[in-house]
Amino acid sequence: MTSVLVVDFGAQYAQLIARRVREAHVYSEIVPSTITADEVRAKSPAAIILSGGPKSVYEVPAPSLDAAIYELGIPILGICYGAQLMALQLGGEVAHTGVGEYGRTRLSRVGTSVLMDEWPDETTCWMSHGDAIAKAPAGFTVTASSPEAPVAVMEDPSRRLVAVQFHPEVAHTERGQELLANFLHHVAEIPGAWTNTSIIEDQVDAIRAQVGTERVLCALSGGVDSAVAAALVTKAVGKQLTCVFVDTGLMRKNEGEQIEETFTRQFGVELIHVKAQDRFFDALAGVTDPEVKRKIIGELFIREFEAVARELGAGDSGPRFLVQGTLYPDVIESGSGHAANIKSHHNVGGLPEDLSFELVEPLRNLFKDEVRHVGEELGLPSEIVWRQPFPGPGLGVRIVGEVTRERAEILRNADHVVVDEIKKAGLYRELWQSFAVLPAVRTVGVMGDGRTYAYPIIIRAVTSDDAMTADWARLPYEVIEAIANRLIREVEGVNRVALDVTSKPPGTIEWE
Ligand code: XMP
Repeated sequence: MTSVLVVDFGAQYAQLIARRVREAHVYSEIVPSTITADEVRAKSPAAIILSGGPKSVYEVPAPSLDAAIYELGIPILGICYGAQLMALQLGGEVAHTGVGEYGRTRLSRVGTSVLMDEWPDETTCWMSHGDAIAKAPAGFTVTASSPEAPVAVMEDPSRRLVAVQFHPEVAHTERGQELLANFLHHVAEIPGAWTNTSIIEDQVDAIRAQVGTERVLCALSGGVDSAVAAALVTKAVGKQLTCVFVDTGLMRKNEGEQIEETFTRQFGVELIHVKAQDRFFDALAGVTDPEVKRKIIGELFIREFEAVARELGAGDSGPRFLVQGTLYPDVIESGSGHAANIKSHHNVGGLPEDLSFELVEPLRNLFKDEVRHVGEELGLPSEIVWRQPFPGPGLGVRIVGEVTRERAEILRNADHVVVDEIKKAGLYRELWQSFAVLPAVRTVGVMGDGRTYAYPIIIRAVTSDDAMTADWARLPYEVIEAIANRLIREVEGVNRVALDVTSKPPGTIEWE
């Protein structure tokens, strides 16, 4: 697979660069800045991109690059810190000007440029730098400048080395994606061949090569990742796959039916639907501590899955392979670039470690948005493919206090109303999560002639990129009103509605 290496200098932008490269239909991988020329040669990438970074090239220590990499004849694009490093290492000058540029900045072109072919003389780019390249190295032509960056773009077409001070990967740079595409397709001459179809074909081949004629097991959670992973395995080895769906009683409305419909009827896969609701509610009876609840749900889930796996003879005569929906960000963050461990800790969906399965991870090179597109191409319904993230312990972490059948049912119905109205308003995909929370208090109300004493529902909706931080969503009043009216009218046991206006930090997204 032709690939581009994105060398990570500690920028928050490295993942974004990798994703933008993939949007130009070229496969990309993130590598640490300690990579050596020999390691690069072994990977034989079609191009290299040096990311930005938080440091100044003059700081000690500041990350550097094995200078022999410039001699390999591989096209290189330096961005921000990467541009300055390239300038310095190849004999140019970087100045501590004391005047940086942050945010939208005017960019003026000079002369002809491979990167900015057909651009107007002036455009807007996004800058974030303290130092600036003062003098381009020998062999380079300066093709653009900004008020504080005399060398905003420099190019050496003969060596296929180019560098930009601004950030082409961010949306605020008007023609950033076009610049990246020009680098990939025109400077490095890489064809845009990496598509959903090619991803699927590659993975299908890889899965077949890995599992041969053996049986494969997959735990479906109702989420996007496990569903797409299972769909890929189905396409590759069809009848060799057995899926297990453990219904904890804490799933979203119609989640089990949707999974049955898709996997059993549409894909014709063997699906074991474990209806374990009673066992979960029994185990949770009387428990109010959030951590204890999580632990009970997590452990019981593992036990349920284990029971099915053993019944199927896992490890002996049964399935030897286990599908995991590990994504690329998990692989990068685990640092090893290898076998991300099965997530078990508090995460339901964490699977038993003593059943020694070999993992099948068909999504480990993909970002979440790519997984969704692959899922669509594989024919998964959009309700599954575009589903917002859902915590492993399910509604259990949104029911404050004791989890009972009745309270789970109230919350499930309330959650359905919230999501339904958010979808009707066309907001579902732009929100990171939107759901209902059931607190452990009841309030007095009046309905018709009578006094009520029932639960309030809290509407929780947030925007976020990665769940590490989140902002409470400014839902339109009409949407809040529509949700509130329906909650009180349609959901028995609810007589009041409140809105959570806490961001993260200081709050968390979930209530428990
Ligand atoms: P918090 O509430 O910590 O949640 O802001 C951050 C993100 O993680 C999800 N979440 C979980 N996901 N198992 C999961 O798989 C869990 O136990 C769990 N707890 C929280 C939450 O929905 C949000 O997207």
